[in-house]
Amino acid sequence: MAYETLIVDVEDHVALIKLNRPEALNALNSTLLGELADALEAAEKNDKVRCIVLTGSEKAFAAGADIKEMADKSFVDMFGSDYFGAETTRLLNNRKPIIAAVAGYALGGGCELAMMCDFIICADNAKFGQPEINLGVIAGMGGSQRLTRFVGKSKSMDMHLTGRFMDAEEAERSGLVSRLVPAKKLMDEALSAAHKIAEKSQLATKAAKEAVDRSYETTLSEGLLYERRLFHSLFATEDQKEGMAAFQEKREAQFRDK
Ligand code: HXC
Repeated sequence: MAYETLIVDVEDHVALIKLNRPEALNALNSTLLGELADALEAAEKNDKVRCIVLTGSEKAFAAGADIKEMADKSFVDMFGSDYFGAETTRLLNNRKPIIAAVAGYALGGGCELAMMCDFIICADNAKFGQPEINLGVIAGMGGSQRLTRFVGKSKSMDMHLTGRFMDAEEAERSGLVSRLVPAKKLMDEALSAAHKIAEKSQLATKAAKEAVDRSYETTLSEGLLYERRLFHSLFATEDQKEGMAAFQEKREAQFRDK
């Protein structure tokens, strides 16, 4: 399927989705977010796809929501349409692992989009920020909630109140990203992580994603019980038998998602 604002490529069980509005540093407008939700849904439905990588350009993952699209909107426009509400719900409604590969600016909605992915690998030129305060507004796609969970209250408050950018080293140090690599190696690193995930049992990757996500939504005791029950239930799968047999026979497991 051809998109106006995305380039999508499926190869070796990995869907690579590239944001493609270079003239606006991949600013997120309604077309882009709608197409991204469509592309993620298509990847979710495509049996060949076992992992998804979301990326931008070398200069910008995404420089935020499109300020030019928003500037003249009224409260009634924003609230009435639940601006970006439906799109973000659709983005999050995906059971396959999604890696954000971030180079350059990931600001405002761009930072929020990266945080909606399952984990972030960034290049050494990455810059993260929630600079909405400079526009007289605040984060609107989860920044105040997700960044706080990633990096803690003090740093999140600093970022939201001053609008300053965080460089890649600070992002790694504070737990916002899982890996930091030289810019030239970003896509190799992200695709290699995706291929590694694609080799696993999809039943187990779905369970792992659900269990980690649940830790954001519930109490520790409920989360521990949820994890334990998922763990128990995986013993109903052929992939558990195969994985444990392969270990004992000192060979690579051949998972069949059964
Ligand atoms: C629309 C944008 C844009 C944005 C950049 N551009 N960011 N257009 N929305 N968020 C456009 C510029 O207008 C310009 O086009 C082109 O991209 C290149 O940008 P420059 O500013 O010339 O590049 P540079 O000098 O390198 O500066 C890069 C930058 C700066 C630091 C990233 O562009 C910037 O501060 N952008 C805005 C970042 C921001 O405030 N993001 C938060 C948005 S609010 P033209 O044609 O003009 O030359 C948000 C809310 C989310 O995200 C919640 C929604 C529900």
